[in-house]
Amino acid sequence: MQEFSIQDQQLTLESVSLEDVANQYGTPCYVYSKAALTRSYLEYSQALGEHPGKICFAVKSNSNLAVLQLLANLGASFDIVSGGEMERVLRAGGKAENIIFSGVGKTKQEIIRAMDVGIYCFNVESQPELEVISEVAHARNQEVSISIRVNPDVDANTHPYISTGLKENKFGIDFEAAPAVFQRAKELPGIKVSGVDCHIGSQITELSPFMDALDRLLVLIDQLAELSITIEHLDLGGGLGVTYKDEVLPSIAEYIAKVKERLGDRKLALLFEPGRSISANAGALITEVIYTKLTAHRNFAIVDAAMNDNLRPALYQAWQEIRPVTTGSDAEEQQWDIVGPVCETSDFLAKDRALSIKAGDRLALMSAGAYGFTMSSNYNSRGRAAEVLVDGDKHYLIRKRENFEDIIQGEYLLEEQITDTP
Ligand code: LLP
Repeated sequence: MQEFSIQDQQLTLESVSLEDVANQYGTPCYVYSKAALTRSYLEYSQALGEHPGKICFAVKSNSNLAVLQLLANLGASFDIVSGGEMERVLRAGGKAENIIFSGVGKTKQEIIRAMDVGIYCFNVESQPELEVISEVAHARNQEVSISIRVNPDVDANTHPYISTGLKENKFGIDFEAAPAVFQRAKELPGIKVSGVDCHIGSQITELSPFMDALDRLLVLIDQLAELSITIEHLDLGGGLGVTYKDEVLPSIAEYIAKVKERLGDRKLALLFEPGRSISANAGALITEVIYTKLTAHRNFAIVDAAMNDNLRPALYQAWQEIRPVTTGSDAEEQQWDIVGPVCETSDFLAKDRALSIKAGDRLALMSAGAYGFTMSSNYNSRGRAAEVLVDGDKHYLIRKRENFEDIIQGEYLLEEQITDTP
């Protein structure tokens, strides 16, 4: 978060005052730092260094075209989970050969399109998916690279909703069942077995779960070698967690160095799929206080951003810091719940924060660059927020705020439905 600072009582991103951003583009507004995105991506790529492999940015964390373009220009690869994310990467100038396709429910159309453009690898999550990929590839006389996502059954020690590597989760193939699926993949036409992957969860703040998963995958890779199945790359899934509040994290360099060290003599390319650790602390959501409402029990600051703009607190009880955009307010400091206009009790951005607030003030919800805009919706017929990229002392609109026409685009009145075929 080093790109955020206070200058002349103004919360500033790189060299741009966020009060100016709010004045120019309105609120709510997501704002991202080019320098922060660049710095955190380079931490991964430099830690990987000369070791063969790819840093595949997890598009789900922030899929704005300009953000993807910036990362593509830096040489990033991409981890996608839908045809829509694939098209975004291509539109942003990412190369198909730098795309890996994850996700439990790839449709046949998505698989065909991925083969048309020639992506690097399918991260396969089930045997039925493997059979479909083989069938499609064979019919096209093509051979496609696949990796099989193995569920290493390790506890990532994170929120249950974002923990994915346990036996009871829907993701990947059971560790014990994996060798048989690899055998099957080896026999299937149109399939080139290239990798093993896993993703045990997100917002992981210590290295041990990653290392436990790695150890299990290395055992599997050695087992596969005995079956004459040669694995070329190992993909450890999402990246490290981030500091939202006071979490202390190992460095990216330390993580990747440890992974390389554990490979021993094995000749394995390394893939990582970081999202949050590249984008979360590169962004904030700027919002304006509409009303303050003091009740006998709580003080509410009702702001113009809501759960439809940033779902994380409502969905995971996530804690994100709230900072005043202009500091030194003369309002009395009190405990506030920061809530939005949406008609849900779970519509809050923060609870119990000591702040000096009055109507008209702008607030910044920090660490909002990952899983912020991408999880936003039009709930309550609210247009989605604007997105702005800051670069030094410049700022650019990278997504315009949605207006009412944008919200209803693609909807039909009853009489229109009869004549117009979608
Ligand atoms: N690869 C796969 C297969 C994933 O499922 C994910 C995240 C990632 C990579 C990226 O993980 P990261 O580096 O960001 O930890 N919406 C939740 C997070 C959901 C994560 C889903 N998968 C949140 O806001 O906390």
